Amino acid sequence: MVARFLISILLASVASAWGGGQSRQLCLRCHPVHYAERGGCSGCHRGNPASERKNIAHAGMRGGKYARFTLGDVREIKAGERLIDRFACRRCHVSGGRGNRLAVSLDDAAVRKTAGELALSIRRPVGNMPTFGLDEETVTGLVNAVLAQSQGREAVVAAPVRVHFTTSGKKNSDIFSVKCGGCHRILSQRLGAAGTGDVGPNLSGLLSEWYPRTYKSSEAWTSQNLRSWLKNPRESRPLARMLPVPLTEGELKELESIMAVYPEPIK
Ligand code: HEC
Ligand code: HEC
Ligand code: HEC
Ligand code: HEC
Repeated sequence: MVARFLISILLASVASAWGGGQSRQLCLRCHPVHYAERGGCSGCHRGNPASERKNIAHAGMRGGKYARFTLGDVREIKAGERLIDRFACRRCHVSGGRGNRLAVSLDDAAVRKTAGELALSIRRPVGNMPTFGLDEETVTGLVNAVLAQSQGREAVVAAPVRVHFTTSGKKNSDIFSVKCGGCHRILSQRLGAAGTGDVGPNLSGLLSEWYPRTYKSSEAWTSQNLRSWLKNPRESRPLARMLPVPLTEGELKELESIMAVYPEPIK
């Protein structure tokens, strides 16, 4: 009785191991095997290995160029990390658990979206993400970097981003929209998206560690540096095109509270 029970468990596990191998092989109806020593096709490419119909097998699939990160080449992963730094993606997004929560978490997006969709979002940004105008190789590098960073991370479902949109059609009257918004845009934890101008850089995350250190060419933007800049941009950057914007102490405080970045999203 016990022996039969044990044998049936043994048979079941052999069958499932064999069945697993069998279902993995459905990709192999059409493709030669490669990187077999590193596991099944879907571990690296996703897709549905249980179907032999191409459109089903390929659903959600990650093409070869977006699977490069799976090979674990340290140099390539470092290069991807440098891309994320160079374009300061973390001033708006969390990636690899680090960064501001002004837009969706890229760790979360990596789980929900296909690699192709991630690439499209970077190539043709929507909403308040800046257009970087990147070549395909750079986009591919960034997608690989986002996927590599997200590995082993749980999607943070319980941390929605709070973005407010004005629906009233009234012009925004906050200090950023009035004094800066004609030339700049910002994602603010307090206000959501503000500003409509593209003459000056997008200032999202300026007062956080993830904004490029562009004050006096290599310093971080602190409140103090921002105040000096507004008084006279040319003092720290002789060729600055921005003119001084004189603000009262009260206005500066309001501006800072709009530009401030908090570690957790405001509930
Ligand atoms: C019925 C045949 C068939 C099956 C089953 C199939 N494929 Fe394909 N696959 C193709 C063909 C044909 C192409 C060439 C491009 C195209 O027509 O989409 C291709 C292309 C690819 C590419 C290259 C795409 C790129 O842009 O880099 C990858 C990767 C791939 N398949 C992975 C898989 C994986 C993983 C599975 C199993 C989950 C699978 N395929 C199952 C037929 C198939
Ligand atoms: C360790 C991760 C890994 C595994 C496992 C893996 N692949 Fe790939 N695959 C890649 C990478 C990375 C590329 C991009 C080209 C390269 O670097 O080899 C790729 C490229 C491809 C391509 C496109 C080839 C081309 O030149 O366009 C196809 C098709 C493909 N893989 C199918 C499969 C199938 C089918 C399996 C399962 C038998 C599989 N892969 C298993 C990582 C993997
Ligand atoms: C100024 C802020 C900002 C910067 C900088 C930024 N993004 Fe975004 N990104 C956004 C916004 C806003 C969205 C739209 C989704 C949302 O509202 O959260 C978005 C969406 C995305 C999406 C789609 C996510 C999804 O779930 O659909 C991807 C992928 C993405 N960004 C990648 C990047 C990468 C990679 C970089 C760096 C090269 C970058 N972003 C830099 C603000 C930014
Ligand atoms: C009339 C347009 C205009 C207005 C209004 C304006 N700016 Fe600017 N700003 C610019 C331009 C153009 C730049 C580009 C840098 C330069 O001039 O060298 C810039 C640059 C900056 C920078 C430097 C960012 C960097 O990474 O280099 C900061 C910070 C800044 N502005 C903050 C503000 C704030 C805060 C306000 C509102 C109180 C404001 N600006 C109002 C046009 C404007």
